[in-house]
Amino acid sequence: DKANYRHFMAKEIHEQPEVVGHTLARYVDLAAERVTMPVKLPFDFNDIQRISITACGTASYAGFVAKYWLEKLARLPVELDVASEFRYREAPLRKGDLAIFISQSGETADTLAALRYAKAQGAHTLSVVNVPTSTIARESETVLQTLAGPEIGVASTKAFTCQLMVLASLAVAAGKARGELSDADEAKLVHGLVEIPRLMSEALTTELQIEKLAREISKSRDVLYLGRGTSYPLALEGALKLKEISYIHAEGYAAGELKHGPIALIDEHMPVVVIAPYDKVFEKTVSNMQEVAARGGKIILMTDAKGAAEATIQSLVTIVMPDMGATFAPMVYAVPVQLLAYHTAVVMGTDVDQPRNLAKSVTVE
Ligand code: F6R
Repeated sequence: DKANYRHFMAKEIHEQPEVVGHTLARYVDLAAERVTMPVKLPFDFNDIQRISITACGTASYAGFVAKYWLEKLARLPVELDVASEFRYREAPLRKGDLAIFISQSGETADTLAALRYAKAQGAHTLSVVNVPTSTIARESETVLQTLAGPEIGVASTKAFTCQLMVLASLAVAAGKARGELSDADEAKLVHGLVEIPRLMSEALTTELQIEKLAREISKSRDVLYLGRGTSYPLALEGALKLKEISYIHAEGYAAGELKHGPIALIDEHMPVVVIAPYDKVFEKTVSNMQEVAARGGKIILMTDAKGAAEATIQSLVTIVMPDMGATFAPMVYAVPVQLLAYHTAVVMGTDVDQPRNLAKSVTVE
């Protein structure tokens, strides 16, 4: 049921404050200001030396964000792979290390094969899945469920942000267990997580502005997405979302990589979406934007009020996100990224919920 929405994707984008809130309530004890895993983990984070994260597509970008979180908050090294590479590369896993798998459907063939491989290597297997009865859920040692509810649109939206909520909670739990975070650190991070649903609702209020912007984007042949830190995986996600539903070619890059190649593409026909909350690397991203502007590139800047004030460049459009700490910003910035892809596809007149050549669940490799 699409409720009053034109597409399932629109409904699912708008449902995010609610379902991310449900997921939050499952992983966080609000009264105690602590994260609480709903199941007992069969390992001690202090015994883990390395984590591998494996997934496909959008789920792999959730894993990429989680790599930044786990390394920062728990000081645990994380290796990230797409499942089709991991399974055939035969990556060496140490017995007792932790292998994390992320999948909305829990049926993705490559991710399932990667899980079986990790199990055979003696790794602890933990999966973040949306469908609790799925094969990946059944075969994993530990299951952390996302409470996104059924996702019908082929392009993943609410499953992605719910995956991020679970992975953020897990990273805080790992940091706490390893003594990298104090009780006070944990309480502060939990406050940050509790704010997310409200901040996502605020982010949804940019929709009219984005709808207008989508008419511009729909005229482009190519779009570049740039970000640093956790905004880099979000740039990859933005590009994937745009290409899969609007069929406009898009690429996501780490902003610092711009001058190592993609800058050659920039001219007045190339919109560049810059995802840049005001954080430690903001000034670096501003210099990348100056490089784009100097070549006539049209900049669409997604930032907060502070970033908008500090960015000394002429952007085509600035989409102002609510003020928040930088750590969990990807969950909130995912909203305008999804809306931009959605409205561009609507302008293009494509089949938003069932894009050509794509299936919701990829059960063959
Ligand atoms: C993109 C998208 C795909 C899936 C990928 C993994 O919008 O939906 O990239 O994320 O096929 O699917 P799951 O999460 O079911 O393993």
